Amino acid sequence: MTLYGVGLGPGEADLVTVRGKRVLETADVVYSPGRLSRSVALEHVDESAIGDLDFPMTRDEEQLRAAWKEAAATVAPNAAEGDVAFVTLGDPNVYSTFGHLRRTLEAFHPEVEVEIVPGVSAVTAFATALGVEIEAGAGLSLREAADGRSPTGPDRMILFKVTDAPATHEGLAEAGYEVTYGRRLFMEQGETIVTDDPTELEDRDYYTLAYAEKGDLAVEPATAAFESDGEAPESDRSAGESDESTGSEPIADGGEEVTLERAEGCVHGDCGGHR
Ligand SMILES: C[S@@+](CC[C@H](N)C(=O)[O-])C[C@H]1O[C@@H](n2cnc3c(N)ncnc32)[C@H](O)[C@@H]1O
Repeated sequence: MTLYGVGLGPGEADLVTVRGKRVLETADVVYSPGRLSRSVALEHVDESAIGDLDFPMTRDEEQLRAAWKEAAATVAPNAAEGDVAFVTLGDPNVYSTFGHLRRTLEAFHPEVEVEIVPGVSAVTAFATALGVEIEAGAGLSLREAADGRSPTGPDRMILFKVTDAPATHEGLAEAGYEVTYGRRLFMEQGETIVTDDPTELEDRDYYTLAYAEKGDLAVEPATAAFESDGEAPESDRSAGESDESTGSEPIADGGEEVTLERAEGCVHGDCGGHR
């Protein structure tokens, strides 16, 4: 039978994919590596289906290997008899604990079939939450910035594990980056913060990321011309639309014109960071 690695998305229960939900609802046992992923899983499965695995908070590789061997030995017999799931926040293949379990199973229990259900990763969710558009053709790099580190180089970076935002900010600002921070984005647990002020994030919270963009990037997509003075050229306006048009006005296709001051979906913060 199968072990499913299920990506739960960033935290809100309705950002689990339809496939992920179906797998969770039908799995005999659902294992989770942490409290947060467990609480999201519990939105979809009964507590009686949750299995226990013990993960030590350590960077000692010997201890970690021993823990993963034990976890694999617990999961393998259940996966041989039925379908089981291992959940992770975001996507199981992005900076995730699931890779350790998959490799350990491949080494010691190769009979277990593994299937992955992708999830909405913070790598993509950040863009909507922070009101950032990564235009077609733009480069985007992923880095870690734990313990106040300030990686530099790429034009645009997503920084994970921003545990000391003020220290990270100092290095980035010095290198000419504009930075927006996001904490607990699309998460039900804890307060969501979107800000470009690192002093608002002085307390450490592992679920904090940053988007850093070089200050001198001159990106001008063709349609940016429409935003320059808020007016489309005369020939583009539909009949009956007045110059004073604000808010919701009927337009030619029967839909509504909406004045957008921030990206749709920015219900999680002020989204005032970039552009
Ligand atoms: C070990 S990585 C896990 C990434 C996850 N597998 C994913 O695909 O999103 C954990 C880091 O991702 C970022 N992160 C994950 N979920 C987040 C969220 N909902 N809000 C803000 N940052 C998040 C934080 O920087 C955190 O330190």
